[in-house]
Amino acid sequence: MIDRGRWSSSLMFVLAATGSAIGLGNIWKFPYITGVYGGGAFVLVYLFCIALVGVPIFMAELYVGQTAQKSPILAFDHLHRKNSPWRFVGWLGVMSSFLVLCFYSVVGGWVFDFLFKSVTHAFVGKTDEEITGMFGVLISSPWMVLFWHAVFMIVTIVIVSVGLSKGIERVSRVLMPALLLILVSLFIWCIFLDGFSEALAFLFAPDFSKLSSKAILVAVGHSFFTLSLGMGTMITYGSYLNKSNDILKTSVLVSLLDTVVALVAGIVVFSVVFTFGHEPAAGPGLMFQTLPSLFAKMPTGNMVSIAFFLLVAFAALTSAISLLEVVIAYMVDSGMKDRKAATYQIGGMIFALGILAALSFNVLADFKIGRFTFFDLFDGVTTNIFLPLGGLLTSLFVAWMMGPKAIEFILKGRGGPLAKDSLFWTMAIIAPVCVAWVLFQGISDWIQG
Ligand code: TRP
Repeated sequence: MIDRGRWSSSLMFVLAATGSAIGLGNIWKFPYITGVYGGGAFVLVYLFCIALVGVPIFMAELYVGQTAQKSPILAFDHLHRKNSPWRFVGWLGVMSSFLVLCFYSVVGGWVFDFLFKSVTHAFVGKTDEEITGMFGVLISSPWMVLFWHAVFMIVTIVIVSVGLSKGIERVSRVLMPALLLILVSLFIWCIFLDGFSEALAFLFAPDFSKLSSKAILVAVGHSFFTLSLGMGTMITYGSYLNKSNDILKTSVLVSLLDTVVALVAGIVVFSVVFTFGHEPAAGPGLMFQTLPSLFAKMPTGNMVSIAFFLLVAFAALTSAISLLEVVIAYMVDSGMKDRKAATYQIGGMIFALGILAALSFNVLADFKIGRFTFFDLFDGVTTNIFLPLGGLLTSLFVAWMMGPKAIEFILKGRGGPLAKDSLFWTMAIIAPVCVAWVLFQGISDWIQG
């Protein structure tokens, strides 16, 4: 029997899982899509999606991991039968994690670069144009992006290679509280900004005339991404839990923490944006262009900038380690005894394939497969297809193949028959149908552009 490792407590799992969930999705993507899709109404739809789609699928993934005590591919075999067709879902997960990390690490590298710029006072005394131009300069310099992509991957590889308790646990125990502390400080700081109340109104006063069907699609898709669902992360992290862990409690807790962090990050970002009367709909450049140029206008701006990018760097790192862990857990479970060697090899392969994503904005910008650069391709295939498909199938598996015993296991006797039925139908029909709709729309939109 290989020693797979185990969380030292359920709380440790919550910290690590929250670390995985809170990432670039919360601090970079959530504010900018909220800006683009019109604010309050989008936020409301997003909250619905978390509750109705995100949490049930979270529970389904934890159930698979926790009861099988195995990494995704073998977990489905274990729960169903040898060479079960469901192991395809596990394969999909391992492949997606691999591909997501290829581009996630590139963006993580950009964050490291911006952290470095903040620490070295690179934004101080610069004009708006100079600062907004820096992002373009960075992504168009192949050596710079490759350097930071390498640094980000090396840090991720080192953490994962030393194992669960010495690596992921130790890092989560330090970085997660630090992350929360930085976020709370930024939040307190932004209460005193002129744009604070406007930010609250933008995020929490829904204007449904601004809601498009595309926005609903994006909200469902994002509820997946932000909770790290659909590619075996929570199956893997769940497999290191005791069977006595309370799935319902931990799923709700992690989802809640993730959502609160996204909302608070949104408040901070938009308070700054509105204080200077800027456009909320700046898109992906919101964090790398708008924010640094606004920070530079404030008396304490450089401190804030350091704190902010440190926050994002921590968040990205704890998510990246969870992505790598999915692949490594599979290698270890399938008999590769040397965890370190596995991590170096797989990490090296991810770095290598990630080079294509890193160069998508410069050397390879004109190299397209269909309409897509490698970066768009890795991102699009995983976010639009693999993730929803993985989550959909996991939810169906637990509801229809495991059935009442899974529902019993999750509810542990709490709630009456109504609770049982609602949970079952949410996992069996509601969540899968919502996700299937996103999947079909997503695929056709993405292909047609
Ligand atoms: N949830 C992370 C974020 O919000 C990203 C992430 C980590 C992820 N592991 C995942 C997304 C697994 C999907 C699946 O940035």
